[in-house]
Amino acid sequence: MEREAQRVLNAFQREFGTRPDVLASAPGRVNLIGEHTDYNEGFVFPMAVDRRIWVAGRRSVDGAFRLRSLNGMEAYEFFGVELTRTASWVDYPLGVVSVLRKRGYELGGFEAVFFGTVPIGSGLSSSAALEVATLYLLMGLWGLDLAPRERPLICHQAETEFVGVRCGIMDQFISALAQRDHALLLDCRTTEYEQVPLRLDGYCVVIADSKKKRGLVDSEYNRRRQECEEGVRILQRAGENVRALRDVTLEMLESHTQRLPATVQKRCRHVVTENQRVLESVEALRRGDLRRFGELVNQSHDSLRYDYEVSCEELDLLVETARGVRGVVGSRLTGAGFGGCTVTIVREDAVEELTRRTQEAFRTRFGYEPELMTSLPCEGARFERLD
Ligand code: GLA
Repeated sequence: MEREAQRVLNAFQREFGTRPDVLASAPGRVNLIGEHTDYNEGFVFPMAVDRRIWVAGRRSVDGAFRLRSLNGMEAYEFFGVELTRTASWVDYPLGVVSVLRKRGYELGGFEAVFFGTVPIGSGLSSSAALEVATLYLLMGLWGLDLAPRERPLICHQAETEFVGVRCGIMDQFISALAQRDHALLLDCRTTEYEQVPLRLDGYCVVIADSKKKRGLVDSEYNRRRQECEEGVRILQRAGENVRALRDVTLEMLESHTQRLPATVQKRCRHVVTENQRVLESVEALRRGDLRRFGELVNQSHDSLRYDYEVSCEELDLLVETARGVRGVVGSRLTGAGFGGCTVTIVREDAVEELTRRTQEAFRTRFGYEPELMTSLPCEGARFERLD
């Protein structure tokens, strides 16, 4: 059993004086390509990383909720029926309970200990991992029979309705449904998905955490969404039969240049070209063409930087430094932007050089070192009943 699993089991025993009934876990994610496309009903291509949130739990005898974290977050106790927001970490687990109840599942209270190795607030989706780990715990505790596709949708509803963050569906889908050695091609309109084998033969995925907190992310994220919606409205008014940017082509955008404000035009161009890049990336990987995949990854960053304008100095430096290292095929920011992480595809024997040069360049410019980690595509959420 993994060390982290053992840790939550032991902590549960100490805290509640009894053994837990279920152990669950869910991973964080890195998006390989397809950024800011999910809420435009487009395509994304994330993989789960080797950092997870673990939770051990059991139903409480008195119906109360008792949630503990081993990551230094405050403990939570609640005896009532009506769950309300607390503006703290427990909103994610409580949100999942609340959505399940809304959907007619009769859940009582539970006791649980959480522990996570997904860095918080660094763009690797610790919140989605927390929601998904909770859902899998509850599936184990109450024997809920939920179709795979329903699981991330429940967690996404928890995040948008209960926690109040207007995110897309990517993070919850990959955390719930990831498969080892695969990345997930997800169509965010139909929620159809495909597990694509990620054969990197001698190459690997390096994630660099700028450790820059994504301060602007909420307001700017919402603004980008509005700009995309505005683009769609303008095209509709001009007679185009489109429902989301997913339906828009580059030619269409160009033919309406006069009508689209310059900023809206740029935002739309990013989304339209990014969707194409996702589909082309999957094709390139299928034929083992890592070079082409790398080029598309680079183009994605440039589009996010200049057209979508969600990069920042820290991310640009990470990407530029990586691109200067022999053996790197592509590098881009990943996640919402404004801080957080980059993802780089690099030959295994060049990882050391990449790490050294990145840390040096970053330290010289910003006075501290980013954190670099490699990860294979990991398994999605799971739970087990303990006897
Ligand atoms: C955040 C959101 C996702 C997605 C990305 C950008 O991670 O949670 O739904 O929109 O930003 O691709």
